[in-house]
Amino acid sequence: MATARDPIPIRESQVDSYEFTRYAGATLSALVVLMATMIVTGYLYRPEKPAKPGYVVAGVEEPAEAPQTAAADAGGQPLEVLLALADPARGQAAFKKCAACHSIEKGGRHGVGPNLWGIVGAPHAHAAGFAYSDALKAKSAEPWDWARLDAWIANPKAAIPGNKMAFAGISRPQERADLLVYLNSMSDKPLPLPPPPAETPAA
Ligand code: HEC
Repeated sequence: MATARDPIPIRESQVDSYEFTRYAGATLSALVVLMATMIVTGYLYRPEKPAKPGYVVAGVEEPAEAPQTAAADAGGQPLEVLLALADPARGQAAFKKCAACHSIEKGGRHGVGPNLWGIVGAPHAHAAGFAYSDALKAKSAEPWDWARLDAWIANPKAAIPGNKMAFAGISRPQERADLLVYLNSMSDKPLPLPPPPAETPAA
């Protein structure tokens, strides 16, 4: 029967405690080496960020050069082609970005911006009873044709400097074309779509 005074149990517990210290020491040094390795390789193999993200986050504006669909924007299609491919239902959805400031239905009230019924083909500053900026009033002799509206929606600030439409713009060409076709449908006299440019004959 072993008692507390027996030498063997005491010696065993001493051995245990040496072993523990040795293993703990070995584990700690291994951890230190691992951390050092991680720090060094973190420097050596810092990942390069790709110029374009490999994923698309819904609802986030893409840069202008990012094609929405391969068919639509491939190779920077002219506006006429994008209009021919445009979908007024998608345009109506895109109009949510405008609806905070603009009504579109016939006889709708002016908001922060003027009512937009019949805007395609109408002169600049077309709506009676809206306090336009001088910049827009100065262009009241010019019609809002397809190209001018497209440029305006892409970047209002650049299209007509000094205007007061506080909107950054829509960078995707096909989304603008969808919107234009929808705007054109909200009119007493929708314009015919411009004809696509003639195919250049193969050399
Ligand atoms: C933050 C409010 C706001 C938003 C959002 C906005 N607009 Fe405007 N918009 C205005 C204001 C204000 C004016 C008048 C600008 C002026 O007088 O300089 C205007 C003017 C216009 C005009 C000229 C109207 C005319 O009679 O000549 C068009 C076209 C237009 N907006 C289209 C759009 C479209 C399309 C969108 C969405 C893609 C949009 N706007 C988003 C505020 C807004």
